[in-house]
Amino acid sequence: MTSSSTSSEAVRSNFLEFFRAHDHRVLPSASLIPSDPTLLLNVAGMVPFKPYFLGEAKPPHTRLTTTQKCIRTNDIENVGRTTRHLTFFEMLGNFSFGDYFKREVIPWAWELSTKPLEEGGWGFEPERIWVSVFKEDDEAAEIWLNSTDLPKERLVRMGPADNFWSTGGAGPCGPCTELYYDRGPDHGAEGGPEVDENRYIEFWNLVFMQYERSDGGDPELYGTDVIVGNLPAPSVDTGAGLERVAMLKQDVANVYETDLLRPMLDTAIDLTACRYHGAEEESQEGYEIDVALRVIAEHSRASAFLISDGVLPSNEGRGYVLRRLLRRIVRSARHLGFDGQMMTPMMASVIDTLGTPWPDLKKQAELITRVAQAEEDTFSRTLQSGLTMLNTEIERTKASGETALNAESAFTLHDTYGFPVDLTVEIAEEAGLTLDRDAFAEHMEAQRARARAATKDQRIAGTTDIAKRVASTSGFNEFLRDVTEADSQLSAIIAGDDLLGEVEEGAEVTIVLASTPFYAMGGGQLGDHGVITTPNGRFRVTDTTSPADGLIWHHGVVEAGTLRVRDDVHAAIDTKRRSSISRGHTATHILHATIKQVLGDHATQAGSAIDQGRFRFDFPHFSSVDREQLTAIQAMVNERIIANDTVETDIMSQEEARKAGATALFGEKYGDQVRVVRIGDYSFELCGGTHVHSVSEIGLFTILSEGSIANNVRRIEALTGTDAFSQLSTEALIADQVAKQLKVPLAQAPERIAEMLQRLAALEKQMAALRQSSVLSRIDQLIANGVSVTLANGEGATIVQTVLEAADHETMRSLATGVISKLSSGVAIVGTMSEDGKAMLLAAVSDDLVDAGVHAAEVLRPGAQIVGGGAGGRGPVAQAGGKNGAKLDEAISAAVNEAQHRLANAGA
Ligand code: SER
Repeated sequence: MTSSSTSSEAVRSNFLEFFRAHDHRVLPSASLIPSDPTLLLNVAGMVPFKPYFLGEAKPPHTRLTTTQKCIRTNDIENVGRTTRHLTFFEMLGNFSFGDYFKREVIPWAWELSTKPLEEGGWGFEPERIWVSVFKEDDEAAEIWLNSTDLPKERLVRMGPADNFWSTGGAGPCGPCTELYYDRGPDHGAEGGPEVDENRYIEFWNLVFMQYERSDGGDPELYGTDVIVGNLPAPSVDTGAGLERVAMLKQDVANVYETDLLRPMLDTAIDLTACRYHGAEEESQEGYEIDVALRVIAEHSRASAFLISDGVLPSNEGRGYVLRRLLRRIVRSARHLGFDGQMMTPMMASVIDTLGTPWPDLKKQAELITRVAQAEEDTFSRTLQSGLTMLNTEIERTKASGETALNAESAFTLHDTYGFPVDLTVEIAEEAGLTLDRDAFAEHMEAQRARARAATKDQRIAGTTDIAKRVASTSGFNEFLRDVTEADSQLSAIIAGDDLLGEVEEGAEVTIVLASTPFYAMGGGQLGDHGVITTPNGRFRVTDTTSPADGLIWHHGVVEAGTLRVRDDVHAAIDTKRRSSISRGHTATHILHATIKQVLGDHATQAGSAIDQGRFRFDFPHFSSVDREQLTAIQAMVNERIIANDTVETDIMSQEEARKAGATALFGEKYGDQVRVVRIGDYSFELCGGTHVHSVSEIGLFTILSEGSIANNVRRIEALTGTDAFSQLSTEALIADQVAKQLKVPLAQAPERIAEMLQRLAALEKQMAALRQSSVLSRIDQLIANGVSVTLANGEGATIVQTVLEAADHETMRSLATGVISKLSSGVAIVGTMSEDGKAMLLAAVSDDLVDAGVHAAEVLRPGAQIVGGGAGGRGPVAQAGGKNGAKLDEAISAAVNEAQHRLANAGA
C-alpha cells in the first residue's frame, strides 16, 4: 500500500515546491505535440524550452520548473518486461537559462534527494546514492565530492554515450551527471551503475547545457563533429522520472506497480480475469501473462494522454504512434485469451487515476473513450480476418517444410487487410518461422512507387527526365502572383518526352514561359485556365501544374496559328475561374479555423481540393458531425463573411511563422521562407495559394455534405459565392414544390409527411389483413374441390391444391395450415408466382400423415425441380422456390402426383 507521504503526488509536489522555494516559476506541462516541427512528440522536459536555451526567445523567468508529459517509443518492446520501461512518463525538471549552473544545481539535487519526505524531499538514504559524471567533467566531480556527502567510491565517470545529453537532433546539448539509487543485493550484482542498471536505478539526470549541436551524428562523437557553437550562456536542464522515483519510494518491484499505474493494472486483471504473478524474470511462472497485463496498463495511460492532446489514430506520424499503442493493447488482451471490449473500462481507469493532476483527461474523457473504443473495434475486425489468413499461410509454409514466411503474403496481409507487419513477425516467430524483412521492404517500396505514379497526373508521372531537361535548359519559372495577365517569353514546348521548337494549330502540348500569372495546381487548389497569345498564334490553357518546385507548366491546345520557342507572349488567366477558386481557398481557411473551434483542436486539415465554386475539406474526427454542429459551422463561416476581415499575406522565415502561431500542416514540407495568410485575427496559416482580398468577396457559404472517407477521417463538401446561392435557391424551390403538393405551409411539411407515412403504414396493415381473410374465406371451397385418396391402411385423406396471385409467404402459409386444420387428414399444396416471375411452392401435411412418414419437403421436391429450385427439411410445412415461374402449374401437378403416390403407400 502507498502511504500518502510516499504517494506519487508527494514526490511530484515536493519536487516542484523545492524549486519554487529556490525562486523557480512553476509552469504547466506543454502538450505532447511539440511546437518544435523537427520532433514528432515531446520527449523531454526541456523540449518546450529549446528557444530559451538557444537565446531565440526570452523565458518568462530565468528559473523554471515543470512536470512535463513525455512520450518515447524507442524502447516500446521492453515495456512490461523490465522494471522501468515506459512509453509515457512524467518528467520532473528544473531549468536555468543563463542563471545558475553546476555549483548550485548539484548541491540542490543532493539536498532534495536526501531530505526526508515529510520535510519536502525524497528521503533517499544518502549511502544508497551513486552518481556518474562525464569523464572529462572534473568540475562536476569536484563539486560532488566537496559540496555533498557523496564519497568518491560512489562517483563514477562515463563516456558521452551515457553522460552527454541532447535530444538526438539539432539544438542545445551538454555534459550531464546522473543520480542512481541502489536497490540492494537482492536486485543484482555489486559494483555501481556500470555493472547493473537494474539494481542501480537512474532516477535523475542533470544536464549542463552549454553547446549547440547540429543534426545527425553519433552520440560518441560529441565533439567538434556535431558541436557547432556555444549557447549564449551556460544553462541547466534536469529531468527526473516521476514513475521511477515513485517506484523506489513505494518499494514496489517495478514502475507498473506504482500508484501511477497499479489501478490500471488492476482493471486489466479484473477484465481479463487473469492472475497477476509479480514475475520479474522470463524464467518465472506467469511472466508472459504479467507482461501482457503491464503493457495493457502502460499503453492505456499513454494512449489516453495522446488522445487528450488531440492525436487521433492514423497510419503516419504521431497518429501511428497512437494506433500502435492501442493495437498493442488489443493484441496483449488477445494473448491473455480475452477477446471482449476493454478500451472503455481501461480509459475510465486512466481518467479516474490521473484526472486530478491532469484535468485535461477529465475534460476530454468522451473523446478519449470514443477514439480508443473505435480503434479497438476496427482492429478487432482486422485481426479476426487477418489471423485466419495468416494461420493458413503458416500451416502451408510448415507443411511445405519451409522455415520462412512468404514476404509477399505478409505484404498482402498488410497492404490489403491492414494487418500490421510487426504482428505478422511476432506470430510467425511464435510458430517458429521467420520473415525476410528486406523482401518485405522491397514490396513496400514497389507499392509506394505504384501509388506515387497513380496519384500523380499522368503528364507528370512519365516526365521526370523531361522536367529535369526543361529546368536545366530553360531555368525555373517565376510565378507572378499579383497580376492576372502579363507579358513574357515562351521558353519551351513539350510534347510527351520531346522538346519542340515550333507547333501548329491543333497540337496538344505543354508550354513553359519565363514567368507566368498562371497558378499551378498545389496546396489543394486547382491550376488556372486561360489564354496565351503570341504574335502568330493562340494557346488555350486547360490546366496548369507544377512537376517540381519552381516549375510551372501550361497544358492545353494551340487554338490558332503557330507557337515558336522565344516568341513574346501575353498570358492571361481566366479571371472568373480564378476568383471563384480564390473564394473557395479563403473559405477553406475560415472553415478550418471554425471546425477547430467547434470540434476541437484535433480537427486539423488533412487534405483539400478547391475547384470553381466548390471545395472539399478533410479532417480527422472520431464521429460524424451532427446536424447542429454543421449548422453552427455554417453560421459561423457566414458570420465571418459578413464581418469582412481583410486577407493579408506575408513572407517570413519558418521560425518566425511558427512563433507567431501559424497553423502548418504536419507532414508538409516548407522551405526556409514561407508565405503566411492571415484573415483578421480569425485564421493564420502557412499557404501558397491564391485568396480574395477581403472576406466578403466569398459572398455566401453553404455545406453540401458531410461524410466519412476513411476511419476517423471526415470530409465536408461546400459551395461558395453564386454556386452556394444557386444551391440554396434550388433547395428552396424543391421545398416550395413539396409544400404545394402537401397543401400546407412549408413549416408544417415535416409534420404532414410524418402523418401521411403513419397513415400509409396503417393502410398497408389493413390491406394485408383483408387479403388474408379473402384467401382464408376460400378454404371450404378448396376442400370441396380436393382429391380424395385412400391410404394403404384403408383410411381416407384429401389433397387440396391452389395457385394464388403474387402472395407472400405468410398468406400461403395461413391458407395451407388453415386447410389442414379443417381436414382430419390431408395435404395442402399452394403455389404462387412473384411479380418478378419466380415460383414459390408451399406444402402443409396433417400430423397423422407426418407420423405415417409423409413429409412436406418430399412432397414438394419433384415440383421444386421443375421450377428450377430445391426443397428441404422434415416436418409438417415446407417451402420451395425456383426461377421458373412459367412452369408453376406443372410443378403443382407434380407435387400433387407425388402426394398421391406417397399417401397411397403411407401407413403400409
Ligand atoms: N533533457 C534531459 C533528459 O531528458 C534532462 O532533462 O534526460
